[in-house]
Amino acid sequence: MEKIKIGIVGAGGMASYHYKGFIKAGAEVTAVADMDQTRVRAFAAANNIEKVYTGLGEMLDAQPELDGVSIITPNKFHRPLTVEALERGKHVYCEKPPALNAAEMREMLDASKKAGKRLMFDFNNRARPESQAMIRYIRDGRAGTINSAQASWIRRAGIPGFGGWFTTKALSGGGPVIDLPHMLDLALYFMGFPEPEYLLAAAYYDFMDNRAFKGPWGIPDTAKGITDVESSCHGMLTFKTGQSLMIRSSWAEMNEREVVSVTFQGAKAGGKLERLFGIDGLDETSIDTCRLFTEAYGNQVDLDIKTEKDESMGRIGNAMNFIDAIRGAAEPYNTPEEALILMRIVDALYESAATRKPVAIR
Ligand SMILES: NC(=O)c1ccc[n+]([C@@H]2O[C@H](COP(=O)([O-])OP(=O)(O)OC[C@H]3O[C@@H](n4cnc5c(N)ncnc54)[C@H](O)[C@@H]3O)[C@@H](O)[C@H]2O)c1
Repeated sequence: MEKIKIGIVGAGGMASYHYKGFIKAGAEVTAVADMDQTRVRAFAAANNIEKVYTGLGEMLDAQPELDGVSIITPNKFHRPLTVEALERGKHVYCEKPPALNAAEMREMLDASKKAGKRLMFDFNNRARPESQAMIRYIRDGRAGTINSAQASWIRRAGIPGFGGWFTTKALSGGGPVIDLPHMLDLALYFMGFPEPEYLLAAAYYDFMDNRAFKGPWGIPDTAKGITDVESSCHGMLTFKTGQSLMIRSSWAEMNEREVVSVTFQGAKAGGKLERLFGIDGLDETSIDTCRLFTEAYGNQVDLDIKTEKDESMGRIGNAMNFIDAIRGAAEPYNTPEEALILMRIVDALYESAATRKPVAIR
């Protein structure tokens, strides 16, 4: 069988996870493109990729035989690059967030339908072993209907560089609300992606001028760059089904420690999925837990679900799933229709925070 051929666009921090996943799933990566030629050459040399290009168009002209493209650029370029690749008949694997807003996401969804090609996003947290274990319990009915949930990605000091594209709203779409959509996405996944109805949120801009709140990773600061995004947001969302979800996300907030978790309360069991980062804030020293809380024979019972350790936080597994989904060997972990629901919620979070009013979700 011919190997699936993938080209990567954007040789940034996430590219090596995409590469590892594609290779592990039996695909080959024959091209990588980035306008930063020093960066792209270093990435290509480290991974034995023969050809480097300056952009998507040049790459597709040179290698029209590519089956799929992965997009790992600043958020502003997700929509135009995805649409261009789909229109040229390629499957697309795009980094999160899917787009800057729901209108862009609609365009991407339409383009994927028109092309009849797979469009998947790097909602890597769904591919974590704990998430896949939890969803089996939920789909088997062990939790019952999930009435309420809480999605949190709260960083105490985690601004990913000042003045670069992350903190420039025109390039990123916003701060932690759009940069850290993973736990919101995971909560929606567990709840069955119900149709959202109303949302009330507040956003804050504390510490966005304070270097003490910079994360241990991210991109270098840009002198005189723009920093015009929120540092935290708190929201409450209801669904047409009667379910409800509280959302907290921050890059900088006076909290005891970083919290990365989804908790939920179901009619038969509650649950909690958490990543506790180590003291250095790194993946390597993290502890992942997956637990269910229930009742049996008059006693409260906690189920501690043990899964294999995955330092990559599902990033490699999710990229593998993209290849398997192209082959038709697996269901995709996420769909563009789900991404559209997520982006409608992101839009509503920003609208409610800006207007200081509850919003009916469109
Ligand atoms: N899933 C995750 O856990 C995770 C983690 C970090 C970042 N991300 C996402 O990955 C994406 C990239 O983030 P990053 O931290 O790697 O950023 P980065 O700035 O380190 O790298 C982006 C790269 O894209 C290149 N680039 C920009 N525009 C381009 C274009 N039009 N064509 C080709 N190359 C282009 C830049 O030169 C740069 O090398 C973002 O969307 C971010 O949200 C996801």
